[in-house]
Parts: sequence; structure tokens; C-alpha cells
Amino acid sequence: MKLEHKDLLGLEYLSKSEIELILRTAKPFKEIFTRTVKKVPTLRGKTVVLLFYEPSTRTRTSFELAAKRLSADTVNIAVSSSAVVKGESLIDTAKTVEAMKADFIVIRHNMSGAAHIIANTVSSSIVNAGDGMHEHPTQGLLDMFTIMEKKGKIKGLNIAIIGDIMHSRVARSNIWGLNKLGANVFVVGPSTLIPKEIKKMDVEVHHNITEIVHKMDVINILRIQKERLEQNLFPTLEEYSEVFGINSQKLKKAKDDILILHPGPMNRGIEISSEVADSKNSAITEQVTNGIAVRMAVLYLLAGDTGGKSEIINP
Ligand code: CP
Repeated sequence: MKLEHKDLLGLEYLSKSEIELILRTAKPFKEIFTRTVKKVPTLRGKTVVLLFYEPSTRTRTSFELAAKRLSADTVNIAVSSSAVVKGESLIDTAKTVEAMKADFIVIRHNMSGAAHIIANTVSSSIVNAGDGMHEHPTQGLLDMFTIMEKKGKIKGLNIAIIGDIMHSRVARSNIWGLNKLGANVFVVGPSTLIPKEIKKMDVEVHHNITEIVHKMDVINILRIQKERLEQNLFPTLEEYSEVFGINSQKLKKAKDDILILHPGPMNRGIEISSEVADSKNSAITEQVTNGIAVRMAVLYLLAGDTGGKSEIINP
């Protein structure tokens, strides 16, 4: 089993069957987590370099754990104490890492397209861990894995993505992936945070969650990205929270089994109340666990010839 791609740059570039292959492959990897020894030899001898130009807790840690659980060697490049601060370009840094024979470079960068640029420059497999406002493919995949696990399907579900759609790479990866798997995707937020072009991505646009919440099977609540809000796109955080923040009151008419997702990190009390974040409907912590399984599946499938499926499950 393998993906017929050198890199994972975005869900826009994967077919429905490739996404399904990743989600299927992640399942046996998740079972490994229940073992005393959470490790298989699948990627022994491979090297995974983590190159993060932006902060991360979940993505960086779970890629590192995913690689380690597959027995790969991992190296973290702390960009703030690397030659990047001396002015080394992204391409030169990537070529330097390639010269050290990295099999994978997992990159997060604040520039949309950064992963594409180095994918076209180096022979290592590039995995996009979030590029600017473009895509965060493994977040989209882990969200879909969690929905499959909880709902048993994606096709035909009504799924709302709520909040700052404009700045959100998570929203774009979710929209590409969910549409390919047959969900009905709704985006909800203030008009200043929903780009007009989003309609071309085959989504329904709404500005009031209470009008549609009764129909939703899943709501995926996005973080307000204070670091990317260069203009005053809404009056105050309190006002945003009042109108778009998800709390029990706004979920009054929701289905009993509505699934609540959030990619993290959460701004509790702004886009999501603690009551909702910690409710029985929330799968936010499970999303984090599932992120490791999905990232193991991605590394495994990109690596290709690793000896067949039996190596996934036999230590
Ligand atoms: N969801 C997500 O990307 O979280 P981190 O920024 O902590 O990696």
C-alpha cells in the first residue's frame, strides 16, 4: 500500500479513494496505542525532520510521536535558534536538511505555498503541517477520522465549520476533504471573516448558527486567530463571542448526538464555552489522539515499500 505522491501538500490534491485509504490505514495504527509497547518497526532506518516556523503543540508533538511509534529517527529544528535567524532562506534550509538525507520534512510555515516550494526543490517527502491560510491536511484528515469513528460515515452528514473561515487553513482542508467524501458542508461566521470566493468550494454560507443548528450532525468550531487579525474584522472579542461563540444556549435546538470538534488551541469563553468543550458531545481530546494515528498512516503510506500491511500491526 502506498500513496502515489512524493508529498502530502493538501487535501485538494488527493482523490476520494486516497483520502479513504489514509483513513482506513489509520485504524490499525490507533489500535497500537492500546498496547503496552506502542511501537512498530515499520519505518526503521527512516529519518523525519520537523521544521516548524510557527508555534505548535498538537501537530509537532503528534508528528514526532507518530514517527517514533513507527521506529523512525526524528530531529526537531528549532527555527528560532537555527541559521534561519541569520537570514538563511527557506529553500537553502530545506536543501541543507535534504543533504543530511532526511526521508521526510514535516513543515509548518506562515507563508501559503511554503510546502509546495520546498516539495519542488528537494527529493525528501514533504508533509505540510500548515502553510499560512492555505491548508492543514493532516488536521482535515484527523477531523474526518474522528467523524467516521463517531458517526460511522461522512457521506450525507450536515457539517458546519464555524468562525474565522478567511484565515483558516483547517477550514480549507476540511472543505476539500469533506466534500470529496460526500458531506454537506456549511460555513458560518461574520461576513468579514468569510471570503466571497468560498462559495466556489461548494459550501453553503450562513451568518447565524441558531438558524441551522437543528440540522447539523457535526460542528467544527475554529479558533479566532488573534495573530492573523491585522484589521478590525469584528468590533470586539466579547461581541464576536456573543454572536458566534458556541455555548449551550446556541445548541438548545441541536440534535442530542451533535458532534463538537475544535482543532485547538481553544480560546475558551470566546469561540467555545467550557461547558460545550467539556460536554459529552465533544470529541476534542479524541481528535488529538486520532491525530497521531492519522499521521502514522500518512508517513507509512508516503514511505511506500515498507513490507506490506502486516508490518503495521506486528511489532
Ligand atoms: N490544531 C493545530 O494545528 O494545533 P497546533 O497549532 O497546536 O499544532
